[in-house]
Amino acid sequence: MALREILTFPSPALKKKAVDVKNIDAAVNQLANDMVETMYAAPGVGLAAPQVGVPERMIVLDVNTEEPGKDLVKLINPVIVEKHGTVVWEEGCLSVLEYTADVKRSAEILVRAWTPDQDEIEIEADGLLSVALQHEIDHLDGKLFIDRLSALKRDLYKRKLKKILRDGGPDPDTERNTCI
Ligand code: NI
Repeated sequence: MALREILTFPSPALKKKAVDVKNIDAAVNQLANDMVETMYAAPGVGLAAPQVGVPERMIVLDVNTEEPGKDLVKLINPVIVEKHGTVVWEEGCLSVLEYTADVKRSAEILVRAWTPDQDEIEIEADGLLSVALQHEIDHLDGKLFIDRLSALKRDLYKRKLKKILRDGGPDPDTERNTCI
């Protein structure tokens, strides 16, 4: 396994729509394992392949920070097939430095996907898992959570980021556990 570099806004790679994985082969398994290692090292609870510069539809998630690994999922070509209700959740993202904001999403979803073992599975999700799945699938469509905010809020963030970068970059001690 190997750590991969996590790209951050405004990297153009984060705006590209990812393509379906055609073959679940050794390279796909390697990528999944690298993404898991990179996610835990960050640390974060979710990571999508475009965040490490690979424009393919794969995500990894582990929202159980108490027992890492127990609820780990690696999903290939995930699709939301049902959604119900709405929820507002404060989101952060490993690709959006030093920022969190409330985002409105579906409360409960049903996701269909493939695993690295070539099984087709369905996941019913609510709470953080639901939010994280929608956030990661957005990454596959070239969308960040800040794209779901008002133009005003997004603009304020862009100015804040410029200032952070001008002042020598993000604070390494910032809590990133909830980044998805
Ligand atoms: Ni993210």
